[in-house]
Amino acid sequence: MIELPEEFLRMPRWWTEGADWLRELPRAVERQCRQWDLTVVGAVAHGSNAVVVPVTRLGEEFVLRMSPPGQEVAEQTWALRWWAGRGMAHLYDADVDAGAMLLERLFTPLTTRPVDEAVVVLGQLMRRLAVPAPADARSTAEIVTTRSAQLEPEWERLGRPFDEAILREALRVAPTETTSTAAVNGDFHSAQVLAGTREPWLTVDPVLFQGDIEYDLGRVLWTRLDEMPNIVEYFDSAVREAALDRDRARLGDLADRRLLALGTVRRPHRGPGALRATGYCALRMNRLRIIRGVSAAFGAIECRIHGWVRYTSPA
Ligand SMILES: Nc1ncnc2c1ncn2[C@@H]1O[C@H](COP(=O)(O)OP(=O)(O)O)[C@@H](O)[C@H]1O
Ligand SMILES: [Mg+2]
Repeated sequence: MIELPEEFLRMPRWWTEGADWLRELPRAVERQCRQWDLTVVGAVAHGSNAVVVPVTRLGEEFVLRMSPPGQEVAEQTWALRWWAGRGMAHLYDADVDAGAMLLERLFTPLTTRPVDEAVVVLGQLMRRLAVPAPADARSTAEIVTTRSAQLEPEWERLGRPFDEAILREALRVAPTETTSTAAVNGDFHSAQVLAGTREPWLTVDPVLFQGDIEYDLGRVLWTRLDEMPNIVEYFDSAVREAALDRDRARLGDLADRRLLALGTVRRPHRGPGALRATGYCALRMNRLRIIRGVSAAFGAIECRIHGWVRYTSPA
């Protein structure tokens, strides 16, 4: 039977749910292997929500991914099928009720590459994933509208963790409308991209939205913020590689006026760097309430960057 990594068992997700599922998971993996005729051939990888087990069938390599059954699994299989292997791991089989997927085996994660290289890869993949989206995919504009309404109350509740000018600017530029119907991966960052054989890098664990692909950019940047001495360089690089629209002069102007929320990261107790540190401390202290606040604030910062790109686009 497979052994579940300690780190996986300690994930915050299981603080409030999933105990039964976790207890049964090693047996569920065995059952799924019998059903799909798979042999486990290596150690278990994991994220915060799923375990991923290297398996073979008739000499062919795959991974078996298991996560708690539910809507998320159905949505993810829908997303994987929609992208059909383009910039994305292939889905070979799915058992939504069991939370099981049989996926193309991928290799080294993009997190092992230096951040400048990773941002180039992520920018190119953002564009590669921007195929026409299914009409019923949720719109980024709708998400931004919802988050915008939460931003000010969250900012108040967190004790006004960054300058009010940034908050106002974020609300002003947040793109609550879009005419784009491109597919957008709503959970895209270095840990979701791994080396492949069909394509140099392939995405896993997608969330399929439609709208502005700039939506991804915030997460691409803030997930590795601590490694970026100058955020604007990385912003520029991602914008270039993803061929996002923008007006460089306006961009420079905004950056100069230090309106970019992420630009405040080096001011130790005021910017999102402080928010992030608060997030880590809160994790240790098991204070979920703060974590939710912090992620809402991060969401807003994503809108902020997203808005920034839109704002600086030629009309
Ligand atoms: N197709 C794959 N091949 C190899 N490893 C994978 C594959 N898919 C996911 N992984 C590994 O398992 C981890 C967790 O998988 P993921 O689908 O991202 O689940 P979670 O929802 O927990 O983030 C990934 O970060 C990656 O390291
Ligand atoms: Mg993941």
